[in-house]
Amino acid sequence: MYVCLCAGVTDREIRKAADNGINSMRQLGEELGVGRQCGRCACTAREILKEARSPDYMALANRLAQPA
Ligand code: FES
Repeated sequence: MYVCLCAGVTDREIRKAADNGINSMRQLGEELGVGRQCGRCACTAREILKEARSPDYMALANRLAQPA
């Protein structure tokens, strides 16, 4: 789903950025442009980033990345 309409950024792109080491809204804004215009997406983007950086999510993502 689109999270930031101004920059055309989806939740999937935010999760991928988190997987690549982005861990703050400042970095997310610099990397993808999220929250840099109207700012309406900031709360949702922050929640997705927080969830994607949580230990439970990281463990699940690492487990799914392992070959079967
Ligand atoms: S919707 Fe993200 S800056 Fe406007």
